[in-house]
Amino acid sequence: MISNPTSGPSSSEGHGIGPWGLSLSGVGIALPEKILANSDLTAWMDTSDEWIRERTGIAERRIGGSTSGLATEAARQAIEDADVPVDSIEQVILATTSPDHICPGTAPAVARELGLQCGAFDVQAACSGWVYGLVVANGLLLQGMNRVLVIGAESLDRITDYHDRGTGILFGNGAGAAIVDRDETGAGRLLSWDMGSNGNYVHILYAEHGDVLKMDGREVFRQAVTVMQTSATNSLKRAGLTVDDIDLIIPHQANIRIVEAAWKKLGFSMEKTEMVLEHTGNTSAASIPLALQSALDKGRIQPGTNVLFLGFGAGMTWASAIVRWA
Ligand code: COA
Repeated sequence: MISNPTSGPSSSEGHGIGPWGLSLSGVGIALPEKILANSDLTAWMDTSDEWIRERTGIAERRIGGSTSGLATEAARQAIEDADVPVDSIEQVILATTSPDHICPGTAPAVARELGLQCGAFDVQAACSGWVYGLVVANGLLLQGMNRVLVIGAESLDRITDYHDRGTGILFGNGAGAAIVDRDETGAGRLLSWDMGSNGNYVHILYAEHGDVLKMDGREVFRQAVTVMQTSATNSLKRAGLTVDDIDLIIPHQANIRIVEAAWKKLGFSMEKTEMVLEHTGNTSAASIPLALQSALDKGRIQPGTNVLFLGFGAGMTWASAIVRWA
């Protein structure tokens, strides 16, 4: 059964989708070597390590590298992890808000580096982008594809002013990638998903051409808590699951206090939550796959584990997806 009704002017939803399952059969990440610690920032702005840790949960972030370079590195690791031939990939989806160029998209360059000439396009849904990409990948599998590469990659240092204490404390670079395979057994599955946007909030987080990110931090905070709550609730409802049925939550890593505030309303626990924010900062579209790799490294995901991915970002956009691990 394919179900894709719309419940409002800017909301799309899904539940119980498709005759086949889905399996994230390989994951990889890339982080540039150069660390920008909170203490480094104090040379350029009136802030402190203590303030940044307390108000955001961030201790350091990475800078350097390019979006295509980091994306390619993460993709290569994911391919190795899945142990599949590169040329079996039928589509490259790259979620990024810091593409190498305004035009063309960055995905074709990543495909080139991997030696591929398959379809390749960028998703620009800011920090929700990787979850959007995962849902789109599931759609392509339903159309008959067998294997899609979904990457989230950012070089946010190119659009971040590290002298501005409102934004410079938050953002960093990184990439994460997953090989998304059709699972004929149906054991692994995208149980439900939810995607939404509210263009009335474009002005609270944006970057003009050639300029850096501008943000109304307090308003982003408020909206983020609300949309995380709404989106997680929608996905749970569509999957017919309760909070207790979710084994692991992988939220967008923007600010630990946003996650804590949303969890208080949702009834989720931090124990069930994977966080990498402290050592990565906010890496936008890369943050969820970076945390996914961390959860896998810790053995937190096993066959049958119900994982909730939950993203939000500029736009505003939001997206959630519940995956039963293959
Ligand atoms: N270092 C030290 N002090 C700072 C500071 C910094 N980097 N930034 C702000 N302050 C000060 C302010 O000047 C203010 O001082 P005052 O009370 O004397 O006027 C005080 O701290 C509180 O400022 P406020 O802007 O209310 O801080 P905040 O608690 O909202 O924290 C953010 C600011 C940016 C950390 C927070 O709003 C945030 O994380 N918002 C969400 C941003 C986000 O996640 N964006 C990406 C979404 S994908």
